[in-house]
Amino acid sequence: MNKSINLSRRRFFTQTGAGLLVGAAVPSWLQAMEGMSEMPKRAPNKASPNFHPDVEVDLLCKPSTLSILPGQPTQVLQYFATLVKGPNHTLTEIPGSYLGPILRFEKGQKIRINLRSELNEPTITHWHGLHVPALMDGHPVYAIDKGQVFVYEFEMLNRASMNIYHPHPHNSTASQVYRGLAGAILVTDQEEQKLGLPDGEYEIPIVIQDRQFDDNNQLVYASHMRDRMMGFYGDRILINGRPDFNLEVASRAYRFRILNGSNARIYKLAWDDNTPLTVIGTDGGLLESPVHKPYVMLAPGERLDVWADFSGRNVGSQLVLRSREFSGVLPKMAERMMGHAGRMHTNALPVGSDYPLFTVKVTRQVSDSPTLPNKLSTYSHYQISDTVNPNKPVPIAISEGPMSMLLNGRPYAYNDVLPSERIPVNSIQLMEIFHAHGGTGGHGADKSQTEEHKMGGMGMGMMRKGGMGGMMGGMNHSDTDNAQGEGHKMGGMGGEGMSGMGMMMSMAHPIHMHGQSFQILSRTIGATETEGYATVKDGFIEGGWKDTVLVMPGESVKVIKPFQDFKGVFMYHCHNLEHEDMGMMRDFSVE
Ligand code: C2O
Ligand code: CU
Ligand code: CU
Repeated sequence: MNKSINLSRRRFFTQTGAGLLVGAAVPSWLQAMEGMSEMPKRAPNKASPNFHPDVEVDLLCKPSTLSILPGQPTQVLQYFATLVKGPNHTLTEIPGSYLGPILRFEKGQKIRINLRSELNEPTITHWHGLHVPALMDGHPVYAIDKGQVFVYEFEMLNRASMNIYHPHPHNSTASQVYRGLAGAILVTDQEEQKLGLPDGEYEIPIVIQDRQFDDNNQLVYASHMRDRMMGFYGDRILINGRPDFNLEVASRAYRFRILNGSNARIYKLAWDDNTPLTVIGTDGGLLESPVHKPYVMLAPGERLDVWADFSGRNVGSQLVLRSREFSGVLPKMAERMMGHAGRMHTNALPVGSDYPLFTVKVTRQVSDSPTLPNKLSTYSHYQISDTVNPNKPVPIAISEGPMSMLLNGRPYAYNDVLPSERIPVNSIQLMEIFHAHGGTGGHGADKSQTEEHKMGGMGMGMMRKGGMGGMMGGMNHSDTDNAQGEGHKMGGMGGEGMSGMGMMMSMAHPIHMHGQSFQILSRTIGATETEGYATVKDGFIEGGWKDTVLVMPGESVKVIKPFQDFKGVFMYHCHNLEHEDMGMMRDFSVE
C-alpha cells in the first residue's frame, strides 16, 4: 500500500471536515482509491546487445542546488546528461536553469538513454509525445530506486516536433516536475529541414512554468486540499527556469518553441501590441500552413511552434508576450475565491488574469530575414470513416467530485482495464472526451455513457449525503476568513443533486494520451458554459497533431487517434499534474 496517498487523503479529510460527516461509512470509491493504489515492481530494463544505437545519452536525476533568486540558492531536482555517442548538437544545456538539457534527435535515429536515479524516492522518465514501445514509455510500473539504472532503447519514429521528458512515478509526478525535473526534446526530420526555418541562435526554446518561493528562496509546494483539487499555482513566472528571462533579438524572424511546463496553470498567449500570433506547429509538429491568431491557449503539456517576426522593427523597440485575461477554466466557486473576478486575491498571479511572461527587445538591425513559408507540411486528415468504431467512440469521461478527479469513473489502478480501454493494435479509434457530470454539457455524456461511466457518480453519492458543506467549510478554513460567506452558500448545495454540483465542480482539464499523436475532429460546448468559453475559444488551433487537448467545462471533444506498432499499456491522464497524481489517470491496453 502506498503510504503517501493514504496520509494525504486522511489529511484532507481532516482538513475538510468531511471525515466527520461521513463517519464510519467510508465510501467505496475511497476504499478503491486507497486499496488499489499499489504498484507492482519490475526489474529495470537492461541494455540489449542487439541494439546498436546512433545516439547514446547517460541521463542522471539527482537533488541539486541552484541560484535562481538573488541571495540563497534553491534546492531543486535536476536532470544532468552526458553524451556517450552521437552528434555533438544532441545536448544543449540551458545556462543557470534547473531544466534538463535540450535533447535534439532526428527521425530514424536509434537512441539509447541510460537513466540513473539518485533521488531518495522512486522515479521513472517518460518521453511525452514520443511514439515508443510500452516498455520504453516510462510507465510508473517501471519506477527505479536510488542507484538503479533503467535503459531505454527506441527508434525515433516521430516527425519533427517539440516533446518533453519528465518523471512519471506513481502519485509523485507533480512534485518531481515542480522541483525541477523536466526538459525539452526537439526532433527534426527532412521535411522540416527543407523549409529553412530559423535555427541556431534564431530558434528559441521557451519553457513556461510558475513557481512559488518562500523567504529563504526555497520552492513552496501544494499543502492544501485546494492545491490538489484545482492544481497548484505559483505566484511568479519562470521562463526556462529563470525569473528574469528577457530576449534581445535582431530585426528578423525567429522561431519560438514554446512549452507549457507548468503543473496546472493555463496561459492565454498574446503579444501586447495585438500583433497576431503566427502559429506554425502544435504538439505533434508542423501545421500544413501557418495560422494567425489573436491569442492562443496553452495548457500544461501542450507545445506551440511560433513564427515571431521582428523585421521592420526599430532598434530599441520592445514587445511583451503576455497571458491575457480569461475565465471559465476553474470551478465557479473557486473562481470566486481565487480568480481575478473575486474579492480575494489569495494568489498574486490569479489564473486568468492579465500578466507579462517575457519581454523581447530589438537590439540589432539586420537587413535580411527568412520569409514565412505558405506551405509547411503535408499530412492526411483522418475522417470518421477511417476509424474502426465510427458509432461507438472510446469514452474518456471526466468525473469531478468534491474530493476526486477521475476518468471513466475510476481512480488509477494498475491492471484495472475496462472493456472500453482495450484497444486492438494497429487500429484507428474515434474517441470522445466529455464531462460525465459536467452540468449542462451532457451532450457527449448522454450519447456514449456506458455502465462503467456511470460509476463516476460514486463520489457524488457521498457528496449528496452531506459532504458539500464540510468540504467547502474546510476549503474556506484553509484559505481565508473572508471566504466564510461563500462557504455558507455552498453548504446549501448538498441537496441539489448532480447538475448543480456538477456545474460548481466542473473545470478545464488538459487531457493527454501517450503514444501517437491524434487529430481533433470536433469540439461541442454545452449552452450554459458559453460565458467563459467566449474568452478562450479563439485560442484553440485546429487541424494539427496533438497529444494533449484542453477540455473546457461542459465541453465534449472528439478526436481520432491511431494505435499503431506497439502492444502494451499506455497511459492517458489529465496533465494538470496534481489531478494526475490524485488518480485522474488510466491505462489503455493495446492488444
Ligand atoms: Cu507529460 Cu503521461 O505525461
Ligand atoms: Cu506523455
Ligand atoms: Cu484535470
